[in-house]
Amino acid sequence: MSTSFRWVEQARSGRARAGHLHTAHGTVPTPTFMPVGTVGTVKAMTMDAVRSTGAGIVLGNTYHLMLRPGAERVRALGGLHRFMDWPGPILTDSGGFQVMSLGPLRKLDQDGVTFSSHIDGSKHRLTPERSTDIQHALDATITMCFDECPALPAAPEVIAQSMRMSMRWAARCREAFVQRPGYAQYGIIQGGTEPELRAESVRALTGIGFEGYAIGGLAVGEGQELMFSTLDATTPLIPWDSPRYLMGVGTPDDLLGSVERGVDMFDCVMPTRAGRTARAYTERGTLNLRNARHAVDSRPISPHCDCLACTRHSRAYLHHLFRANEILGPMLLTWHNLAYYQRLMRGIRSAIVEGSLEAHAAWLRAQWAMEDW
Ligand code: GUN
Ligand code: ZN
Repeated sequence: MSTSFRWVEQARSGRARAGHLHTAHGTVPTPTFMPVGTVGTVKAMTMDAVRSTGAGIVLGNTYHLMLRPGAERVRALGGLHRFMDWPGPILTDSGGFQVMSLGPLRKLDQDGVTFSSHIDGSKHRLTPERSTDIQHALDATITMCFDECPALPAAPEVIAQSMRMSMRWAARCREAFVQRPGYAQYGIIQGGTEPELRAESVRALTGIGFEGYAIGGLAVGEGQELMFSTLDATTPLIPWDSPRYLMGVGTPDDLLGSVERGVDMFDCVMPTRAGRTARAYTERGTLNLRNARHAVDSRPISPHCDCLACTRHSRAYLHHLFRANEILGPMLLTWHNLAYYQRLMRGIRSAIVEGSLEAHAAWLRAQWAMEDW
């Protein structure tokens, strides 16, 4: 059976939208947060645990998977869905962003990037065509364009040249993309924090035509205010019926403000990485479970959470696990943090559908500012 890939609006509130993303691998309600499964695993989580938090779509990385175990091996083993036991939709990032963070280990030219593996130093090359082919081999539901994400701050002329190169690469990615029912390719809008460059980038990508549009090059140190003003200048230019994905964002407050500005999809390592370092997200901000004040606290991390950590264990037990460097600590806390992020997104979606986003947003922000229970 084939489903066409499409985003269907359910409700709107100002520029915020609730809807459903229909894909070959199932339907996902939006706005949605995608847990990061860089190397084919959401670190410290079984896929059943990921599913139990309410996640509908996960992210994988071209860069990591091409190096290990290799895209052709994943293809031979039935694709990434089967390999990692996630039958739902998977979005793969293109490798552009990950290669850029290699610094001196990479060499960029107009055709692509040559780089040395962070694993064994071996030489590899990524081009728009190669990145797209790899994402096909992985069987990504959503393939991302191969782009360059320039480090900020940079001179406007540098950002403009980089964005224009990414737009030429986007055209090559589209050429290389094999369309199949229920599958999609997203273009990535670049242009730093310059509204005119963002507008030029949106025109270039919509001229090519993609199933969805990502906003890249943000959350790279520019600060929330500039990120939000850049979104204000960008999302209104994206066709309403296309899904919008803000890459690599962010804190709960970033997600709320970005949904209010018309974003539908997010990914970030924050909840998973924080979970491995004893940091818990709650309705009342964050907690560090290594802190001595949790040592004899018999309460759950959050009274509102239905995750395994909160329904079966105390803060004191989590504190003990982290102090003892036990592997169950990162497992339980990653679970909790992903459960919080999914609960946050469910609440925001319901508020959009019920027409109460403004009140819900004010309530969320007031809670975040409060003391721990
Ligand atoms: N992840 C976070 N930002 C970016 C970006 O600008 N491009 C890509 N490909 N991935 C990202
Ligand atoms: Zn919990």
